[in-house]
Amino acid sequence: MYHSQDTKIRLEALNKIGIALSSETHLGRLLELIVKEARNFTNADAGSLYLVDHDKNCLNFEVAQNDTLKKSADLKSETFKPYSLTLDKNSIAGYVAITGKTLNIADVYHLSPEAGFEFNRDFDRRNKYRTKSMLLVAMKDTEGKIIGVLQLINSANIQGKVVSFASKIETLVSSLASQAAVAIKNAQLLKEIKDVFEALIRYSVSAIDARSPFTAGHSKRVAAYSMALAQAINNTHEGPYADISFSPDQLEELNYAAWLHDIGKIGVKEWVLDKRTHLSDAEMDALINRFENIKASVITETQEKKIGLMNNNNENAKDIQHLDSELGARIHQIDEKLAFIKNINGFNVLNDSDINQLEEISKKKYVDLEGEKRNYLTEFEFENLSVKKGNLTKNEIEEIQSHVTHTENIVNNIPFTGHLKRVPIFAAGHHEMLDGSGYTKHIKAKDIPIQTRIITISDIYEALIAKDRPYKKSLDPIKSLAILKEEAQNGKLDKELVRIFIEKKVYETQEDN
Ligand SMILES: [Fe+2]
Ligand SMILES: [Fe+2]
Repeated sequence: MYHSQDTKIRLEALNKIGIALSSETHLGRLLELIVKEARNFTNADAGSLYLVDHDKNCLNFEVAQNDTLKKSADLKSETFKPYSLTLDKNSIAGYVAITGKTLNIADVYHLSPEAGFEFNRDFDRRNKYRTKSMLLVAMKDTEGKIIGVLQLINSANIQGKVVSFASKIETLVSSLASQAAVAIKNAQLLKEIKDVFEALIRYSVSAIDARSPFTAGHSKRVAAYSMALAQAINNTHEGPYADISFSPDQLEELNYAAWLHDIGKIGVKEWVLDKRTHLSDAEMDALINRFENIKASVITETQEKKIGLMNNNNENAKDIQHLDSELGARIHQIDEKLAFIKNINGFNVLNDSDINQLEEISKKKYVDLEGEKRNYLTEFEFENLSVKKGNLTKNEIEEIQSHVTHTENIVNNIPFTGHLKRVPIFAAGHHEMLDGSGYTKHIKAKDIPIQTRIITISDIYEALIAKDRPYKKSLDPIKSLAILKEEAQNGKLDKELVRIFIEKKVYETQEDN
């Protein structure tokens, strides 16, 4: 394209390429862009890019572009997969990566035997391609370190005939390669920082989830469902979300929000998350102990009465017998009460008669060892045992719900900017319902963005099919999807998203490891 233009025009083009390269920060896209621009610049039919991995002493083949193969559908063009070469001088790219020399070869099928490197014709054979002229330039960073090799193949003249690369273009391509090297270094650095940041999020969130065996792996799976649902929306071209298409940046933002949605659980006490009975084992032991004491006090009371009878010398066998049978009945009653409490402690649903019975027991009094009159049940025990649905008291429910506020505070303190700035909003709204019945802000549909709705549906579904939780048994997908549908019908969840979740089989998504 540029071969007949003068140096000034080429320099201007080079300048423009430099600007384009420096504004692309995504490593994969940048590498593609470098090859594309270099090919345009030299009118090359094909081009590749290798990155040097000095630690592993290898050359990673990252990008391959080939116009001829792309255009000819009848040619069996292979799909490109990145691979590695050992870093040595036997291959052409390896030679350039080690020596830093520019190679301008007229025909690689006629290399001089003294060259010391060989051209591998495997690719040509497989794809019926003929590689002829080649220009290879080392990409050096600002310290002169070789970070990669740019390889351009088959320069064409105006007639489209394959010709050698013009020697005067070598320095310009070298200059392009240097600019590319700087951009690659920046993108690599950015990627490294991002990878570390992502790993940090994954590990900390997974550790928080794993505090409770019931939620281990939860956030990871919620993120997998959320991403799959967003992709399914992108592929939906009918219905209310036909026009919605999430860009890679928006998907990244959603992914962070989904991963982080429950990070606030770090601020919730472990035993509350895991509570599976009204009273814990230790609390139950204390209660059982008290009932043993109550029985002991009843026995003592009877003994004292017997002694009283004896001391007054009006020992009457009938009276003693009466006292004994009365004692037997009282002990039996206490045992029955304890059995009732032990039983309802594991219940998730209590009826009114259970509550009445519990109230009666709680008000009964006994005299403790110090002679103090006390109730059979403490206020704490009564409050916990008398929870009608589930086993969390009002305070405990508030404690669990507070994880959303903690999530908001934590995520707000992570400096998400630019295209990630709405991560805190998406993450912190995941328990809000479209009809305002959710928590903690009780906002309604118009204030709940689609990203939050996506996380909410994924979150509910994951919790439903997850292994047994303290407060519920695990459900199969059919029942779980039916619940999602019902919640959508009731105006709580987004109907269209639930439809896509089911019809596009988003629920079958497996998280990758
Ligand atoms: Fe949550
Ligand atoms: Fe969750």
